[in-house]
Amino acid sequence: MNKITAAITAVQGYVPEDILSNEDLSKLVDTSDEWITSRTGIKERRIMRNGASSDMAAAAVKQLLEKKGIDPMDIDLVICGTVTPDHPFPSTANILSDKTGMKNAWSFDVNAACSGFLFALATGSQFIETGKYKKVIVVGVDKMTSIVDYQDRTTCVIFGDGAGAVLLEPNSEGLGLQDFILHSDGSGREFLVQPAGGSLHPASIETVENRQHYVKQEGQSVFKFAVTNMADVSAKIMEKNQLTSDDVQWLVPHQANLRIIDATANRMGLSKEKVMINIEKYGNTTAGTLPLCLWDYEKQLKKGDTLILSAFGGGFTWGAIYLKWAYNS
Ligand code: UT7
Repeated sequence: MNKITAAITAVQGYVPEDILSNEDLSKLVDTSDEWITSRTGIKERRIMRNGASSDMAAAAVKQLLEKKGIDPMDIDLVICGTVTPDHPFPSTANILSDKTGMKNAWSFDVNAACSGFLFALATGSQFIETGKYKKVIVVGVDKMTSIVDYQDRTTCVIFGDGAGAVLLEPNSEGLGLQDFILHSDGSGREFLVQPAGGSLHPASIETVENRQHYVKQEGQSVFKFAVTNMADVSAKIMEKNQLTSDDVQWLVPHQANLRIIDATANRMGLSKEKVMINIEKYGNTTAGTLPLCLWDYEKQLKKGDTLILSAFGGGFTWGAIYLKWAYNS
């Protein structure tokens, strides 16, 4: 009997309608379209004015189930990567399952910042590979505007809101997830953090006045770690699986900064045409970036294509997944 692998059999994204352009931001803080474009590659991002992460996730999942004609009651497990949950608890995955009628599924959140979707995808795939489950939903969603400080020009220009969801099902043709390398290093926690609102610094008048409920990022330090580790891990997964640059059809990189994406692609020996990029229209949606890339490029993907998904984020967390695309759309 052939080995069972976990294949992505559908993908769906959701982004809010409202656009916040570089021009709009230059009216809020001392910045310019020229600075943001040249330093990050971002031109605009989507912002959610009303609602929560679970609403974006639910919009993506509902459309995904509809287009596949799947009854929500048939979903076994739901894993949601997010750092902007609706509440510290219950999990956004629990709320999402309720809002979409996935009542037979158990569900939980994965907190791995920008690597959230990678970590969730690797986790979900295990339940398919063992034969335990037939249908697993993996989501990456973040409403970054709920934790971005619009007085801090170094962070507010980067982030946006969005969600993406995939369905994992068993495959016996050798397609789907082939390998993953994942890492975390908590000693990087000071460089990219939401300082207050947890057990270390519970919400107080002081934490609010000191703006500690917003994302704090030491941009340059994170950049250095990101550029090295994302490139290293992407090269390593190719080496480990004896893949040359000719064997890889697509790099699916976390969309934090175009310069980090370029460095990763160069290290892998991939030309620009093989790199999924949508940072210019969504910015950094944290756990949302990878499934949103898959959604945007779905029509160009062919059954059997080799994809390397790669990310770096707060924690620090980082890693890469090697998979073979399982369908033509
Ligand atoms: O997704 C999770 C992981 N996160 C990342 O991977 C993000 C990694 N970091 C980055 O992408 C970049 O560090 C940033 C985009 C955040 C910043 O770019 P940078 O090239 O590292 O800029 P910088 O922080 O070194 O600042 C350079 C200059 C400074 O001015 P001086 O000191 O040279 O006069 C900043 O004050 O740019 C200034 N600056 C800005 N100017 C205009 C910082 N932010 C802005 C801004 N507009 N928005």
